[in-house]
Amino acid sequence: MRLIVGMTGASGVVIAVELLRRLKEIDSVETHLIITAGAELTIRDETAFDIFEIRRLADCVYDVKQMDASIASGSFLVDGMIVVPCTMKTLAGIASGYSENLLLRAADVCLKECRKLVLVPREIPFSRIHLRNMKELADCGAIIMPPVMTFYNTPTTLAAQINHIVNKILRLFNLPDDMIEWQSKTIRNVELGIRN
Ligand SMILES: Cc1cc2nc3c(=O)[nH]c(=O)nc-3n(C[C@H](O)[C@H](O)[C@H](O)COP(=O)(O)O)c2cc1C
Repeated sequence: MRLIVGMTGASGVVIAVELLRRLKEIDSVETHLIITAGAELTIRDETAFDIFEIRRLADCVYDVKQMDASIASGSFLVDGMIVVPCTMKTLAGIASGYSENLLLRAADVCLKECRKLVLVPREIPFSRIHLRNMKELADCGAIIMPPVMTFYNTPTTLAAQINHIVNKILRLFNLPDDMIEWQSKTIRNVELGIRN
């Protein structure tokens, strides 16, 4: 499986790092990484990671300005792309088809070739423009997956929240995950012979 991972300058770059780390553990996955200049800033601002440490997690790394990269062409077969985290700027660029850098072009190619495009947009609150762009992209087949907190699995750490989001992404590509499945209390009570 070949996957493109695009990291943009939204808060939450650690989600992308964790995703890359998990993908590296899966032998059958080849990762192609693009990091925008904005993401380089947030990596510096929000994490203690060295950019080269992150680059080493991927099989292929591209400069965001490298418009003649293999992933800029639909003839280069990939199974999908994940933009994580996805800024409102990159979201707007993909929604409008304005492919002025390699990340935007690769996402555009995924859409035109009807390949899976997963976007993890991060902003709070969302403006009408952000929501309109997300709707536009969902209508075009993209999967919109904001990093929403989860509670059913009673996470107690940020790492657990990040792990859950990464699991959700892996599951979209039928890759192995360690997600805690929701167990209906109703079913458990029925199994125990307790009536609600
Ligand atoms: C520390 C920091 C955090 C940011 N967080 C967000 C964010 O959560 N969402 C967002 O849309 N933009 C955020 N931005 C702004 C983007 O980085 C900026 O719009 C940038 O031009 C996006 O470019 P890119 O999409 O090519 O990475 C942040 C910027 C900085 C410096």
